[in-house]
Amino acid sequence: MKEKKYIFSGIQPSGAIHLGNYFGAIKQWVELQKEYTGIFSIVDYHAITVNYNPQKLQRRILEAAADYIAAGIDPKKSMIFVQSDVPEHVELAWLFNTIIPVSELRRMTQYKEKSGQQQAASAGLLNYPILMAADILLYKAIGVPVGEDQIQHVELTRTIARNFNRKFGKVFIEPSVILSRGSRIMSLADPKKKMSKSLGEKHYIALSDSPKVMRKKFMSAVTDTGVTMHEKKKSLGVYNLFELLDLMTDPKTVAKFEKQYQSGKLSYKELKETLAEASVRMFSSFQEKRKELLSDEKKLRKILEDGASKARKIAQKTLHEAKEKMGIV
Ligand code: TYM
Repeated sequence: MKEKKYIFSGIQPSGAIHLGNYFGAIKQWVELQKEYTGIFSIVDYHAITVNYNPQKLQRRILEAAADYIAAGIDPKKSMIFVQSDVPEHVELAWLFNTIIPVSELRRMTQYKEKSGQQQAASAGLLNYPILMAADILLYKAIGVPVGEDQIQHVELTRTIARNFNRKFGKVFIEPSVILSRGSRIMSLADPKKKMSKSLGEKHYIALSDSPKVMRKKFMSAVTDTGVTMHEKKKSLGVYNLFELLDLMTDPKTVAKFEKQYQSGKLSYKELKETLAEASVRMFSSFQEKRKELLSDEKKLRKILEDGASKARKIAQKTLHEAKEKMGIV
């Protein structure tokens, strides 16, 4: 049998997984599993680079594992593991720290945004993309399925691979970004911003939100922001709702609302109700599976341990190669 190539991706266990994470990342992971061996990490060392609650972290990790599996990641095909269970990630990150200029890190958009929200940004926040590069390069992954906001980090990962190979000899592969259709979902309450957990509850729909909450959030979504998308003419809020409609319903429904919109008779209420029902329907079996998975913590932990032990084997080998080239072993 032909050996499958690896793809790598991860999500921070910093709260409930939302529609942006789903359409930008997880949905395509599920599809890519058929063609590649997926390595999907719950990146806890990334999550601690901003303020977080240590008491909640373990629970969040288990919830993320349940989210991955309930959404369709198959632990028999893919590796699911917690980043801190494979210490090679941090060790390789340290090696990479020595080959990347600080100026490259300072210009990262995510760093600029997040450091602005913190009283005193940690060195961890600045070095975050180096750890991300180590995550990916340890597995010589050829592709990284992520949302648009992570493109810059994957580009830096390619730079790190190139710099290392040039300086010490070839070890790493330059990975490609894999983007999906929903690679930039905007906040419901402030469609100028990307949907994100850190903005607050009303900005995102979590896959685990109850039908009542999903309806409430969709019904209060901002539609008229006074700003129009230049070529599409729709306001940012309406444009975002149409994006979601496209991702969650069928072409007939999209065409119906497009027609309403074109004739100037778009019913926001009907559009929002349609979206709310579509999202309730889309995630109802996900929610059942998630609940069932979370009721058996032992089983979930076993899946994570198995994932980590498979990942570790690959990680150890690559780290050894890198250290050898650097004259450390
Ligand atoms: P994180 O945890 O912020 O987000 C996880 C994934 O969800 C995508 N995403 C979105 N996609 C579309 N629209 C949105 N509004 C939206 N919000 C989030 C993100 O692009 C991401 O794919 N640095 C990463 C985690 C990470 C990682 C890695 C990813 C650490 N190591 C190695 C890939 C490979 C992050 O903060 O993702």
